[in-house]
Amino acid sequence: MKVALVTGAATGIGAAICRRLARDGIAIGVLDILIDDARTVADQIGGAGGKAIPLQADITDREQVKAAVAKLRDAFGAITVLVNNAGITAMVPFEDLTDAQWDRMFEVNTKGTFIVTQLVVPDMKAAGWGRIVNISSSSAQSGAPLMAHYSASKGAVIALTKTLARELGPLGITCNNIPPRFVMNTVMSEKHFDDSHKSREEWIKAGPIRRQGEPEDIAGACAWLVSDEAGYVTGQTIGVNGGRYI
Ligand SMILES: NC(=O)c1ccc[n+]([C@@H]2O[C@H](COP(=O)([O-])OP(=O)(O)OC[C@H]3O[C@@H](n4cnc5c(N)ncnc54)[C@H](O)[C@@H]3O)[C@@H](O)[C@H]2O)c1
Repeated sequence: MKVALVTGAATGIGAAICRRLARDGIAIGVLDILIDDARTVADQIGGAGGKAIPLQADITDREQVKAAVAKLRDAFGAITVLVNNAGITAMVPFEDLTDAQWDRMFEVNTKGTFIVTQLVVPDMKAAGWGRIVNISSSSAQSGAPLMAHYSASKGAVIALTKTLARELGPLGITCNNIPPRFVMNTVMSEKHFDDSHKSREEWIKAGPIRRQGEPEDIAGACAWLVSDEAGYVTGQTIGVNGGRYI
């Protein structure tokens, strides 16, 4: 049985990824700061016949992540699948951005990804097999007004993905990223959508696939990237964006 750690897994895209990977028979560590919601996701998976445990940790806190990783390993065994999904966002005009806002964005989106990955890679190395998927953002591909700190922090995640692909590939570990765009029905996107003052129709019309993205769209791509079938795919940016950025 494979074991996956999914971060930011209590809601939105992360919760959909947990449910999808569990359907493939993978045991899941549902990690989030929101432990009650994480427990709900783990219970849903258990109720559907899968295996999952909730894990409370802030990904910027190395000791908390270390404890969560140990708990997951004790429950199900070595962790060979990691989905770095936890993230935060905000819209701030570039000229108003403070050092504190910039640092916080990088602390969660970039350093948090670094911390979690560094703590899980030893299991993958020992197994000679591993799958890492980083959830980045299409804003890092296209740029996004009012999101300088967010898009830059996600651009760093894409660069980290490419470097880990090169460094860890010889150990049997792949590392890819999915940059979502306009995935609705998540806490983050509903707030962002309100802040952007664009109509839903405007967002939808901007891409060739004329619908909004759903968390399950990202989860489906993620399930393939962590599968055995995707073993020859690494360092890639797999756009799941309705064709908006080609
Ligand atoms: N929804 C979109 O349209 C969209 C677009 C581009 C990128 N993304 C990226 O997809 C990922 C998931 O987004 P979502 O829309 O599901 O957002 P969401 O806000 O609904 O979920 C994010 C989850 O991450 C958790 N989290 C935040 N900071 C954390 C921390 N320090 N430690 C542990 N957990 C933490 C939150 O509690 C939350 O459960 C994010 O990385 C986001 O940047 C989303």
